[in-house]
Amino acid sequence: MGRNKVTVIGAGNVGATTAQRIAEAGLADVVLVDIVEGLPQGKGLDLAEAAPVVRHDARVTGTNDYAATAGSDVIVVTSGLARQPGMSRDDLMAKNAGIVKAVVEASAPLSPNAVLIVVTNPLDAMCHVAMRASGFPRERVLGMAGVLDSARFRTFIAEELGVSVVDTSAFVLGGHGDTMVPLPRYSTVAGIPITDLLPADRIKALVDRTANGGAEIVALLKTGSAYYAPAASTFEMVDAILRDRRRVLPCATLLKGEYGVDGLFVGVPVVLGSGGMQRVIEITLTADERAAFEKSAAAVQELVAKLPA
Ligand code: NAI
Ligand code: 2OP
Repeated sequence: MGRNKVTVIGAGNVGATTAQRIAEAGLADVVLVDIVEGLPQGKGLDLAEAAPVVRHDARVTGTNDYAATAGSDVIVVTSGLARQPGMSRDDLMAKNAGIVKAVVEASAPLSPNAVLIVVTNPLDAMCHVAMRASGFPRERVLGMAGVLDSARFRTFIAEELGVSVVDTSAFVLGGHGDTMVPLPRYSTVAGIPITDLLPADRIKALVDRTANGGAEIVALLKTGSAYYAPAASTFEMVDAILRDRRRVLPCATLLKGEYGVDGLFVGVPVVLGSGGMQRVIEITLTADERAAFEKSAAAVQELVAKLPA
């Protein structure tokens, strides 16, 4: 039996870094695809030439031709424009909807059993585009955002308390936008809710910083958006799927009545393993949390309504 195969579409910052993580973990062979001639080939070759030093046997190739992607187990979609300073995720919408539609239409028929992981922003709306363009069932179309947003929350919790990030756990629900819903009650340090460890005003500061985590990096970088943490988060999802780890991770998934939402991609905890989304985990929300979740879902709905037909 050969190694698994992962196609990463978009050989930019997030795509190339994701490819590097997958290859260096020896998790799968990687095909990098981009519309720019030479870019995926160059990055693919560069990554391949790192293999003897890093000591892994995964094959990395780059191409502008989708034929090379056939038979992939996972397709990661990172192609699109990144956010620039002053630009909201929503501004990206029309442009990226066209790109995501085109790349999914080109890749999905060649890998009819693949799990699609969408990264391109605005994330939740792009999941709808990918789902429509692929015709895949909801189990095999997922968006990456919650893992990243939770990682940011965990980073800030660990820093605030002076403890290891490893002992932190956090949940962020809702859409990947300013209305995302970090849940302090379910965010813990070694199992202890942070509501028992930190005063409310400090928790609020960490929650606000998490919700603005993407914009904070854009303001610093000035020429693009975050990619190390996004790539690490995407890798975690690919790893969970290919190794059937049944990780419980917050992912954008098409809700069908869960959390009182029907027909909308929103971030919620799911069991992620072989075949993609195996189960949605429903947790009981307080009235305030529910209101925040509903506000976030409404923001996603508003964007989805603006999608080109
Ligand atoms: P980037 O600009 O470095 O890379 C994007 C790549 O897509 C470029 O190489 C470009 O040539 C390629 N591309 C554009 N149109 C294409 C097409 N039709 N076919 C194939 N390739 C095409 O951007 P970066 O930083 O890698 O971000 C990629 C996307 O991911 C952006 O939309 C960004 O907002 C989003 N993102 C989402 C995150 C999340 O949490 N969901 C986190 C970080 C980024
Ligand atoms: C982020 O959260 C830009 O969505 C991207 O960093």
